[in-house]
Amino acid sequence: MSGFSAEWLALREPYDAAACNAAVRDAAIASIAGLDPVSIVDLGCGTASGLRALAPLIPARQTWRLVDNDLSLLARAADTERPARVQVNAVPIDLAHDLEAALDGAVDFVTTTALLDLVSAVWLERLTIECAARRLPFYGTLSYDGRIELSPRDPADEAIVAAFNAHQRTDKGFGPALGPKAAGEAIVAFTKVGYFVDREPADWVFGVRDREIQTEMLAGLATAAREIGSPRLDEIVAWLTRRRDLVAAGRSAMRIGHIDLFARPTEMRRPDRSQSNSTSPSRR
Ligand SMILES: C[S@@+](CC[C@H](N)C(=O)[O-])C[C@H]1O[C@@H](n2cnc3c(N)ncnc32)[C@H](O)[C@@H]1O
Repeated sequence: MSGFSAEWLALREPYDAAACNAAVRDAAIASIAGLDPVSIVDLGCGTASGLRALAPLIPARQTWRLVDNDLSLLARAADTERPARVQVNAVPIDLAHDLEAALDGAVDFVTTTALLDLVSAVWLERLTIECAARRLPFYGTLSYDGRIELSPRDPADEAIVAAFNAHQRTDKGFGPALGPKAAGEAIVAFTKVGYFVDREPADWVFGVRDREIQTEMLAGLATAAREIGSPRLDEIVAWLTRRRDLVAAGRSAMRIGHIDLFARPTEMRRPDRSQSNSTSPSRR
């Protein structure tokens, strides 16, 4: 279990789709135009929402390597509905330890959604080096960037959001997490290894009728604040009660800041299906 429930991922999916930055996505898809078949790796695929979002927009035959360490999510990913031209290999890998195995073999394109904010600076550097060594384009969407706007405002919002952002920096299995710094650090890291990077906002926007996702989001904010230990527990509970009342009354709206980015190597790899593009001396 990863702590990301299939129910939460399903609740999020339409908001992810609405948030997706079309210009960044189109640049990413254009980078693999002309490849047929095309091999795509989704790192931390969850239930395969990345495939459901992208595959219909790519006219070529596709093989998706879906990678996650949560076997329950991965089983759902393997079963996802998809166009006939799309094949799926669901591969259980702990990316914290075996990133290279996820990228080995015939790969043309790497994507990930809502993963970069979980990883450490060291792991991110590893990712950029592994992508650069293979000259692979990288499309990383929905990295939380620290912006949370709650409407109407509450006096305790600032303290809760500060605690949530502090929690985002705690270890999620990859070492101290980048949290809100993830997209910025990824842009720097990919630029350092010679990539061009496009980046644009891709915010979740929850309107007054989006009660269920707001209620879940508020619970997540309160839980993070409780785990950080600030503000006091009674203040967290009082804040959560006030905010839930606003949601129930149809008076609450939220914007949660995210960044989509596409990092393109200055020179793209020419696909050669006859050999592995691995740079690893051996699989671990
Ligand atoms: C925020 S969820 C995003 C899931 C999916 N990309 C989406 O947007 O619906 C993060 C995903 O990363 C996976 N994950 C977290 N740590 C991992 C690790 N060490 N190795 C592989 N997958 C991991 C989780 O199981 C989860 O599916």
